[in-house]
Amino acid sequence: MNFSVKRVCCIGAGYVGGPTMAVMSLKCPDILINIVDVNQERIDAWNSDDLSKLPIFEPGLDDIVKKTRGRNLFFSTRIKESIENADMIFISVNTPTKKKGLGAGKASDLKWVEACAREVAKYSKGDTVVVEKSTLPVRTAEVIQKILYSSARKSGEEIKSFKVLSNPEFLAEGTAINDLLNPDRVLIGGDDEQSMLSLKEIYKEWVPEDKILLTNIWSSELAKLTSNAFLAQRISSINSISAICEVTGADIREVSRAIGKDSRIGSKFLDSGPGFGGSCFKKDILNLVYLADYFGLKEVANFWESVVEINSWHQNRIAKIVVNKLFGTVSNKKLVILGFAFKANTNDTRESAAINICKNLLEEGANLIIHDPKVTSSQIETDLHKRPINLLGIENSDLKEKSGEWCHIDTIDNIDIFDNAHAVIILTEWDEFKHINWNSIALKMDPPAWVFDARSIVKPKKVLDAGFSLWRLGDGFEDEKNIL
Ligand code: NAD
Ligand code: UGA
Repeated sequence: MNFSVKRVCCIGAGYVGGPTMAVMSLKCPDILINIVDVNQERIDAWNSDDLSKLPIFEPGLDDIVKKTRGRNLFFSTRIKESIENADMIFISVNTPTKKKGLGAGKASDLKWVEACAREVAKYSKGDTVVVEKSTLPVRTAEVIQKILYSSARKSGEEIKSFKVLSNPEFLAEGTAINDLLNPDRVLIGGDDEQSMLSLKEIYKEWVPEDKILLTNIWSSELAKLTSNAFLAQRISSINSISAICEVTGADIREVSRAIGKDSRIGSKFLDSGPGFGGSCFKKDILNLVYLADYFGLKEVANFWESVVEINSWHQNRIAKIVVNKLFGTVSNKKLVILGFAFKANTNDTRESAAINICKNLLEEGANLIIHDPKVTSSQIETDLHKRPINLLGIENSDLKEKSGEWCHIDTIDNIDIFDNAHAVIILTEWDEFKHINWNSIALKMDPPAWVFDARSIVKPKKVLDAGFSLWRLGDGFEDEKNIL
């Protein structure tokens, strides 16, 4: 087995493959890295001269791509050639929840991973380390191994050897570059010491050695699912407490601060919000639920499933609160939605709480004006399964005839968009929403005008002084603060 890795291939140029390999290429200039993908459009975007057109928005990513692309980092659809030439191959393809068949709704769909394993088996020349970068159910490495070994045996004419490692990724979107440059830990799971050390050598170029953990392969796979499950569990826990705050007069921000001071609990991931989104938390927990069910651990499965159930309940709860506060109906009313991404600093909307909340409000007949600094109208259309119409171009009297329609706006600089709106609903914590001039907006809106802040980012006094009624998540004193 080759000890020093010279040529890397990464299959999958997505949110993980792109930034991960960009950072590796920056820190390891002697390694040639080819990122390949079946999606030509995505590859073209990665190769775009205009760095603002990269397919993924991540602070700092464009600078790294500028330095390394064409030097030791290449994006292409040349899968066969890149596999043939690589001594280490990262599989970084999507692993969504299965939509049909056995385990539908919970188990991961591994068809893309299996396709990669078959391609590696077919094209690699031998002595290849295959690294699972995608998040996978425990014991997937076994499946990959079986495909690789059986095909190696079948090919007969040449002896190919493969080693499979698990090296899950812990980056969070929006902070991906910093997470990759300064990871809390790097996990390498495997049973072949040499190949584990060859991967460790790569990371040692920029990660302190004591942060690189070597484990057995199943622990590594399970640790990834467990990390996400624990993080999501904290959010469901704090969101469930926000509901108690609202009925008891406690304030979720004060409760979070108080419990976070306990060093055993810690202060991170205790911000109550509209419910966790993102491509992974829900899918990874459901994967864990499926695994527990599969092994007959019903109570364990129920425990983790409740984390996802609370999250859906919480998202629906927010839409219901908006309807109730607006006198029990939002039909024909204009509501301005601020934020559609699942969190700030990303254009990703996968599983965003905004999708469910907007769908619920559209169902209730509201007309939504949606603004997110990074999410496009066509993405929102895909997520809501509904075409937009130009709500801003029609007279107010005609607007009142409309029901359950939406439109997207690029900017909120022109405050005319707030004309006759009944409420502003903040669903993503973008910085620009922290600096809104509520005084001028209040004058435009239909009284009693509401601000619903599901991210605790507005300054309550400023909103209340401007004449709004304010609802904040987990704010038990909200009624006493309303001045209208
Ligand atoms: P993604 O959908 O953004 O990218 C996956 C890419 O793989 C796509 O561009 C797709 O075209 C490509 N692909 C699929 N099959 C292929 C094949 N056979 N050959 C070549 N290309 C192929 O997915 P992602 O968000 O990068 O996630 C990848 C994995 O990493 C998932 O398992 C996910 O759970 C995990 N993960 C994601 C994050 C995150 O923040 N998004 C963080 C940690 C781990
Ligand atoms: C998460 C994990 O944080 C990463 O470690 C992991 O690698 C990744 O999933 C993955 O496997 O895909 P990500 O989904 O990008 O990363 O974003 P997070 O910052 O974890 O936020 C997830 C959701 O939780 C967002 O909707 C966010 O708004 C919400 N959240 C987060 C809260 O509501 N409150 C908090 O205190 C923190």
